[in-house]
Amino acid sequence: MDAVPSQSTPATVVIFGASGDLTQRKLLPALHTLDCLGYLPEATQVVGMARSPLSQDEFRDRLLEGVRDYSRSDPAVCGRWSVFKHRVSYLAGSYDDPETYRRLAARLSEIDRTAPTQGNRLYYLATPPALASTIIEQLGRAGLNESPGGWVRLVAEKPFGSDVETAHRLNQQLHRVFDERQIYRMDHYLGKETVQNILAVRFANYMFEPLWHREHIDHVQLTVAEQDGIGRRGSYYDHAGVLRDVFQNHLLQLVALAAMEPPQGPDAGSLREQKAQVLRAVQPGSRCVRGQYAGYRQERGVASDSHTATYAALELHIDNERWRGVPFYLRSGKKLAAKTSELSVQFGDSRQQRARGPSSDGPTPNVLSLCLQPDEGIHLRFQAKEPGAGMKTRPVDMGFHYRDHFGGGALPDAYERLLLDVLQGDPSLFPCAEEIELAWAVIDQVLDRWESPTASAPIVYDPGSWGPREADVMLEEDDRRWHSACVHHERAT
Ligand code: BG6
Repeated sequence: MDAVPSQSTPATVVIFGASGDLTQRKLLPALHTLDCLGYLPEATQVVGMARSPLSQDEFRDRLLEGVRDYSRSDPAVCGRWSVFKHRVSYLAGSYDDPETYRRLAARLSEIDRTAPTQGNRLYYLATPPALASTIIEQLGRAGLNESPGGWVRLVAEKPFGSDVETAHRLNQQLHRVFDERQIYRMDHYLGKETVQNILAVRFANYMFEPLWHREHIDHVQLTVAEQDGIGRRGSYYDHAGVLRDVFQNHLLQLVALAAMEPPQGPDAGSLREQKAQVLRAVQPGSRCVRGQYAGYRQERGVASDSHTATYAALELHIDNERWRGVPFYLRSGKKLAAKTSELSVQFGDSRQQRARGPSSDGPTPNVLSLCLQPDEGIHLRFQAKEPGAGMKTRPVDMGFHYRDHFGGGALPDAYERLLLDVLQGDPSLFPCAEEIELAWAVIDQVLDRWESPTASAPIVYDPGSWGPREADVMLEEDDRRWHSACVHHERAT
């Protein structure tokens, strides 16, 4: 975001699923911060919709709790909540009842008469996935997919389908009612500053991109580790599992950003096309590890004989000129030893190094680690001479931390950035229909193996560990190991 706020155009933000967690923990806190920072025009209005009967005050109080607990701007310091809350209203109704949409249309017209929103509308689907179809269809029937004189945009939260077929059907259904240019598919990882920084590191520096190629890269690895379990989301998670929950979206988007060719231009279309090209070339390798944390089957909403994976480690290949022969290792899981998201690129060739033997003087692999969260920064491991006689070298770490250079609290929440982008009409950080389906096509291949009747059960791992030992073995077979530059550094500081 610019230091000088560039305001969005005024609009009415309609949130479907407004009594839920996402609205309370993410959407309203983000809108509140945008308002505090001056990004939202005064005319911006919010209409929360949900099935629960709530009074306007009950709804606003609930939101204020979320703003207090989760907003980057403390409402007591910002001091705008008492004004902002009057721009927030609530509408209860059932999503399949046309009457709900007639009342919404009436509310929107009334808002347009009293506040200069220019007829602009942003619909945010923060509802469980099963409701998306109904809402999209009803919006279309009520004629709410267009607005005379203004723009209409729709944000669809993940999960976007549960396999390639359901995602394709959802895309088709959306396209019957909305134009692709109106649709913003949310992947909050793309809103993280450090994820966008993958592109800055690659394309705004001279030194990395010339080496960003199979001739110089041994392998790439990606870890998205979480310490938390599934919390209260058992009934969703037990149907989804780790591949649908984070691999199809967050991890494959990170792979696409790390592996794509330079976009032809600065527009959203060029970026999306390059990401799609990578996804078209991705092939899952034959090896993968599937884990489930001990105690998962006792979680609320989980089947007592569940085979759902809460951990996965996969090997992927990208069949193109730049990456042929370079493995991409991906792992993610719940209840692991640390929360960390890390993309590491290992330069050199570890197999040649091993072949030369441990005492060889040849170059040792350098590792560039992009720490996406929580200790955002970049680390570069290289060899330096040990002080003293002779020429003995050892690996050292050169580190950059966002907090040291930009101050603590400089990083906006992903939802702030992405909501502002939707309001400003910039779809660059939102995957297009094709990317979503291509990513599902990759994940479906692994799911087919896992969900076949002959598949073995997931390996049980201890909460607080790094997941099944088999995931380490998978890399050791290739003379490699998982890196954790970001976790190590955080402990050391
Ligand atoms: C969500 C998943 O998309 O991403 C969650 O549904 C996961 O299961 C979360 O915990 C991780 O996001 P973050 O920003 O905490 O890394």
